[in-house]
Amino acid sequence: TSPLRLGIAGLGTVGVGLVRIIQRNADLLTLRTGREIVISAVSAKSRTRNRGVDISAYDWEDDPVALARRDDVDVVIELMGGENGPAKALTEAAIDAGKDIVTANKAMLALHGQELAERAEEMGVALRFEAAVAGGIPVIKALSEGLAGNRITRIKGVMNGTCNYILTRMEDAGLPYETVFDEASQLGYLEADPTLDVGGIDAAHKLTLLSAIAFGVKPDFDAIQTSGIERISIEDIRAAADLGLRIKLLGVARVTGRGLEQSMSPCLVPADSPLGQLKGGMNMIVIEGDAVEQVILRGPGAGEGPTASAVIGDVVDIARGMHLPVFGQPATTLQAAVSAKAT
Ligand code: HSE
Repeated sequence: TSPLRLGIAGLGTVGVGLVRIIQRNADLLTLRTGREIVISAVSAKSRTRNRGVDISAYDWEDDPVALARRDDVDVVIELMGGENGPAKALTEAAIDAGKDIVTANKAMLALHGQELAERAEEMGVALRFEAAVAGGIPVIKALSEGLAGNRITRIKGVMNGTCNYILTRMEDAGLPYETVFDEASQLGYLEADPTLDVGGIDAAHKLTLLSAIAFGVKPDFDAIQTSGIERISIEDIRAAADLGLRIKLLGVARVTGRGLEQSMSPCLVPADSPLGQLKGGMNMIVIEGDAVEQVILRGPGAGEGPTASAVIGDVVDIARGMHLPVFGQPATTLQAAVSAKAT
């Protein structure tokens, strides 16, 4: 069989991680898919930046859209980020050119996922996004494959590693929010726009995508009641600790008598519960279904290796010829969420 040829747009942390996995595990990938997985071409902002990885064997494109249109690219990997602009233009160009797409772009899918999914399904191409939610945790696969026979009743979890780092560091070191925020910034944990992290927006993007798959609703970011961690003080954290509780930026989506209740906000959880025990930049997703009862997934929510691991998992599915609807059921059958205001 012919090799599966990738075009990678974006060579930041995740793009470089993906190149490394493909170079290191080429033999394994071929054994597991029956095909060679090769990189045809790459595109990024800077051609000359030293990334610590050899990209000289791959063709270079300045324009990501040109990458999507190349005859020697079967799968476009979108790792540029940004809800609109070049990432969306690239995704649309790839769909229109009949290419499969793998993306890590939670903002783009939370805001334009319905439109993009319908377009991809109409064209018969795959649009996969495991890396967009909870980094290395294969939660999209868990929901859309392993748990697909369940009626999901509730999803809850910690979906932003940076906020979890800030909150646990405040608690463990007894430091005020501002100090820990600066620390996180220096460590490079924060998104380019930190409000995305500490305002709960990044995590709400992720919950939007999980809800779509779990509950068969159109991805609708506005349906999530969102508040961030900016106003959590060290006093709040101490008061919670005195009661055996911890504060977590918790996403909750659950079916109630009044509809689907979806929120992303600071919540109190028992200190000795799995969520209460979650430290640092980790993520955790708790899924409840009518047959499985409860499944808890825990792992790194960000970083080079973990996020690239999720990207290559999607590439492997495509190499194996797996073809799934973008949100687990045809996009045209997704319903509008009848939202119950979270209390
Ligand atoms: N800023 C995100 C986080 C990166 O901290 O979880 C991974 O999406």
